[in-house]
Amino acid sequence: MLTEPEMSSAHLLTPASLKKRPMAVSSPSLGHHSGPRVYIETFGCQMNEYDTELLRALLKARGFQFTSEGNEADVVLFNTCAIRENAHNRLYGHLAEFKRAKQERGIVIGVLGCMAQNLKKDLLEERPFIDVLVGPDGYRRLPDLLTDALEYDKRGLAVDLSESETYDDVVPDRAEGINGWIAVMRGCDNFCSFCVVPYTRGRERSRDPKGILEEVRRLADQGVRQITLLGQNVNSFRYEQWDFAKLLVRVADIPGIQRVRFMSPHPKDFPPALIEAVAEHPHICRHIHLPLQSGNDRILERMGRCYTQLDYLKLVEVIQRKGAITLTTDIICGFCGETEDEFQDTLKVMHAVEFQAAYVFKYSERKHTIAARKYPDDVPDQIKGQRANQLVEWQKQMSLQKNRSLIGQTVEVMVEGHSKKSSSQWMGHNEANVTVVWDQSDEPSPVGALVPVLIDDASPSTLFGHLSS
Ligand code: 5AD
Ligand code: SF4
Repeated sequence: MLTEPEMSSAHLLTPASLKKRPMAVSSPSLGHHSGPRVYIETFGCQMNEYDTELLRALLKARGFQFTSEGNEADVVLFNTCAIRENAHNRLYGHLAEFKRAKQERGIVIGVLGCMAQNLKKDLLEERPFIDVLVGPDGYRRLPDLLTDALEYDKRGLAVDLSESETYDDVVPDRAEGINGWIAVMRGCDNFCSFCVVPYTRGRERSRDPKGILEEVRRLADQGVRQITLLGQNVNSFRYEQWDFAKLLVRVADIPGIQRVRFMSPHPKDFPPALIEAVAEHPHICRHIHLPLQSGNDRILERMGRCYTQLDYLKLVEVIQRKGAITLTTDIICGFCGETEDEFQDTLKVMHAVEFQAAYVFKYSERKHTIAARKYPDDVPDQIKGQRANQLVEWQKQMSLQKNRSLIGQTVEVMVEGHSKKSSSQWMGHNEANVTVVWDQSDEPSPVGALVPVLIDDASPSTLFGHLSS
């Protein structure tokens, strides 16, 4: 798929011309109609997807073009994630692939985002074929660094962390659709001991709510119906007199926006006003992703999570007292020193809360983190795997049970398009963010509409049904 209409037209930097670098090429900064073609691959979380939209906007403004084909590109960029080991391994696999392309056609290779920030020295020294390294606060420098790499074969580095960069003035270059993601804060000051984010994304800073609300209004005008507010620690958003609950409500009040979600909050910042907003505002989804990480107090303390099992369960109780609010979670198993009994505490909390979904991760040690410095990563990988499987299996049963309980009921679904498997079926999500697939009616409903679907079957991850009249 071509992402730019003019992309197939002739362009200044053909791969062949790049082989002869450093030849004189016009700077792409002058708004060329045929600038270098950039291929961006994004790894990791939704925040990284959002950052890629920012990067595209910054590059587009300087005349760069985009291609969805890596083998056609003059510049290959990886927007990376450092959160777990497998994200690293995926990047290294892709780099090896494009290293060959560099030898053959002289492309420019850039590593951006969290891994660039986290592994700057190692990447620069061990992988000399990387031309440009740019951390999450250095995106504005990318166009210049790429121009230098293209024109003068110069390696470039922008890995300084900032205390104020929020890219508030950059309008993300996003794909069309009914879903809009908006970063409302960046960075994190929590320093959970396992987590690399405070080191790769720096100190917590919130955007001016004026800019956020403007962005939401613009998206609503473009047909976006569902907004997800993003932040590494989204509910610690704070700007002058604004807290996250106020922001959430103001976003949800914007005409045209039908559903608002947020990701990911920390259980320590849940004031009553936030729970109230989720429970009562008609446009805020009654769904909270509430990362538990562990159900054991000693492990929680080691993780630096600032709550105990009891604190977490009490918060869940307060939330559930407000009525049907769906809860999902993240869990790490096999954290440093976790015994079998301590792991069983996590399972106990899962039994008590009955989450709709749980994302289960095996602990993987990250460079520079508190845990890497303080505690040995001493749970054998096989045990981590067994514990993860136990949690996943339990969760599968729970999700199935919850989904089956909806059989015979009508749920409200936002139409997103045809189902992936069959063009005679439609798909969307319910308020709890569960995928719903239903048979197409005579008159297809418009994308973005909210439709009632009568559920007649369920799997652990999907509800199936038909349009209810
Ligand atoms: N190892 C395993 N999982 C991790 N997460 C964060 N850091 C690590 C790590 N070092 C998980 C947490 C977090 C989610 C986004 O990723 O569960 O909530
Ligand atoms: Fe990482 Fe903890 Fe911050 Fe989440 S709250 S980004 S887990 S340090």
